[in-house]
Amino acid sequence: MKNFKITQDGTEIYLGDGETKRMGELVKKYKGKKVLLVYGKESIKKNGLYEKIVFQLKENSIEHFDLSGVKPNPILEKVEEGIEICKRERIDFILAVGGGSVIDSAKAIAGGALDSGSVWDYYQQLRAPKEALPLGVVLTIPATGSESNPYTVLSYKDEKRGTGSPHFIPKFAILDPENTLTLPSNQTAFGVVDMFLHICEQYFHNEYTPIQDGISEGLLRGVIEIGKGLLQSPNDKNLRAASLWAGNIALSGFLAKGVNGGDWSSHSIEHEISAINDIAHGAGLAVIFPAWLEYVSKKNPKKIEQFGKYVFEMDSIESTIKAVRDFFESLSVSTFITDNSIKISDFDKIATQATKFGDIGGYVKLKKDDIKEILKIAIK
Ligand code: NZQ
Ligand code: ZN
Repeated sequence: MKNFKITQDGTEIYLGDGETKRMGELVKKYKGKKVLLVYGKESIKKNGLYEKIVFQLKENSIEHFDLSGVKPNPILEKVEEGIEICKRERIDFILAVGGGSVIDSAKAIAGGALDSGSVWDYYQQLRAPKEALPLGVVLTIPATGSESNPYTVLSYKDEKRGTGSPHFIPKFAILDPENTLTLPSNQTAFGVVDMFLHICEQYFHNEYTPIQDGISEGLLRGVIEIGKGLLQSPNDKNLRAASLWAGNIALSGFLAKGVNGGDWSSHSIEHEISAINDIAHGAGLAVIFPAWLEYVSKKNPKKIEQFGKYVFEMDSIESTIKAVRDFFESLSVSTFITDNSIKISDFDKIATQATKFGDIGGYVKLKKDDIKEILKIAIK
């Protein structure tokens, strides 16, 4: 695949091998002179990306301050640390180098830096940010689409909540396959499951949308091919680039056009699970989605039959659900609650929290008791 640039909902996306070299110029273009560099625990220091970033910042006479140690399932406390640095040092640009956890934290920091109240208010749907510092992204794991969308997901105590704002849309995103080569196989697989789900959760709705359906079905077949391919050839930059593109399209907003929101139940349930158990987002989704398919197929089978036919060439719901499980399991991602990672004693809490703001689901509406039934199906 050749390198390309696409501008989407305000984000300049540069995709392809070697595109990282544009980072310094892009920060300068968006008037960054004092940058907060936000990153995770260790991967960018280990694989040399940190050095490349710092070199470019220096080359462009851009001062930087670091916020390191953002953890998967990121937390409010780290965001507050970043906001404090921004206010103290009069930071004018946020640069996120990492995956969804880093980018989501960077979005919250960008909002909080210009706000006198708590950013947790955004996630509690109490108020929306009025402005935010500009944000740029160097993506290191294809999965969430956060690199060019308005969404951010954050945890505080045992609540994990998402929110979105046009102010959070990054100015640029660099999707360079070179930066994803050091991903361990489990993180690669979790990312594939996540992008697969993002496509599915916009696909499952009750509107008549043959164009969007065809695009989504083709994308899902592509994601399956990429997932299986990366298992065999993790160093194949073409596959890594295709994976970055798939992860981006999956949640850039493009697939959501005209589909009335889709059905985000698996995500809503998963967020409550990873809030309590701190498991990887993709691992939680792989357990919930097949159980969700099984449960809602009894109430509204039509689109699941279409999904089976065009994505997996299956002619029954049973064989479709098995094909989904087989695909996730082929990536070594479990599709049942096999260990103690999700406790039966937490089912009530998960279901209560997932419905905190009302019933969930656009394809099939779910109440608290429905969610508990889905969780029961997920037990082997
Ligand atoms: O912390 P480091 O050392 O960098 O390690 C990370 C982390 O442990 C590692 N990693 C990332 N790039 C790497 C790498 N290791 C080696 N080489 C690389 N190139 O991968 C681990 C996971 O990183 P994380 O950022 O947590 O992954 P992901 O992108 O899957 O983000 C998950 C978070 O995003 C939220 C999820 O709920 C979860 O909190 N989501 C955000 C969304 C959004 N903003 O639109 C939507 C999603 O549905 C999702 O909810
Ligand atoms: Zn997701």
